[in-house]
Amino acid sequence: MRILVHSGFFTKEKISGTTEQEEGYMLTPASRLLLKDESLSVRPFLLAMLDPILTKPWHNVSEWFQNDDPTPFDTAHGRTFWDYAGHEPRLNDFFNEGMASDARLVTSVVVKDCKGVFEGLNSLVDVGGGTGTVAKALADAFPNLDCTVLDLPHVVADLQGSGNLKFVGGDMFQAIPSTDAVLLKWILHDWNDEESVKILKRCKEAIPSKGGKVIIIDMKVENNEKGDDESIETQLFFDMLMMILFTGRERTEKEWAKLFIDAGFSDYKITPILGLRSLIEVYP
Ligand SMILES: C[S@@+](CC[C@H](N)C(=O)[O-])C[C@H]1O[C@@H](n2cnc3c(N)ncnc32)[C@H](O)[C@@H]1O
Repeated sequence: MRILVHSGFFTKEKISGTTEQEEGYMLTPASRLLLKDESLSVRPFLLAMLDPILTKPWHNVSEWFQNDDPTPFDTAHGRTFWDYAGHEPRLNDFFNEGMASDARLVTSVVVKDCKGVFEGLNSLVDVGGGTGTVAKALADAFPNLDCTVLDLPHVVADLQGSGNLKFVGGDMFQAIPSTDAVLLKWILHDWNDEESVKILKRCKEAIPSKGGKVIIIDMKVENNEKGDDESIETQLFFDMLMMILFTGRERTEKEWAKLFIDAGFSDYKITPILGLRSLIEVYP
C-alpha cells in the first residue's frame, strides 16, 4: 500500500467517527479509473498493456538493436503486431477491448466539448476505428452524420451496423471510402513517418478538397520537455511503447506539421482535449 499511496492511487486518511489513530485508504481519481464497474474505466486498457504478449518485447530491445527486425515485437513473436492479432483471437479481443475503454473515456469529452468539429459534416469514416466505440457515440450524438468504421477484416468480421453506423473491412493503405471527414484516433502514432504520410494521402483522396477534413486524436509531445515530471515521463513511455510494439512514435507539433505538408495538406488546427491528448483538424 505504501507504494500505491506514493504513486497517487490511494490517499491515507483519518476515518471519521473512529478513534484518533485509525486511518484508512481512500480512492483517488487515478484509481477510480481502474474500477471494474466505473462507466469510464480504463482497466481493460491497463490489463492489455500488462499482458505477457505485450510485455515480452520490452525484454528483446537489445537483441532488436542487433538485428534487422522492424520492431522488438517482431523479434519477440516472429511477426508484426497486426499479423499476430489477426491469428490469435485472445490478443485481438483483449486489445480491442482495451482500445474501446480508452475510446469511451476520450469520446465522452469529444462529444461534449468538441461539437463544432462535427457540425456541417454529412459523413465520417473512422479509419482504424476498432470495434466502433467512437463511431457509435458520434452516430448517436449526431443523427444526421453517416458514420463508417473501416478496420482490418478480422476486427470488424462479426460487427453489425445499424441506422447511421456501418462497418467495412479493408486496408487503410489501399483505399478509404469517400467521405466528408476521416477520423484517425490513435492511428498515426502506430506508424513511422513514411507510413503515416501514405495513410494521410489515402485520407486526402477520400475527402472533398473544399470542406473536407481529417480529424486526428493523438498526443502532441512537448519538444522542450516542459511540464510536470509525470506527464513528461508518460509522453516518453508512450514514445517507447510505439517503438516497441509498432514502427511508430509520438510527435511534436513540428513533426506533425511536416507530415501534413508531406502528404499535401495546406493547414491544421490543434486543440488540447484530455490530458496529453489533442484533437488536430487537418485541411486539404
Ligand atoms: C491503436 S488501435 C486504435 C483503435 C481506435 N481508433 C481507438 O482509438 O480506440 C489501431 C487500429 O488500427 C487498425 N489497423 C491496423 N492496420 C490497419 C490497416 N492496414 N487498415 C485498417 N485498420 C488498421 C487496428 O486493427 C486497430 O483497430
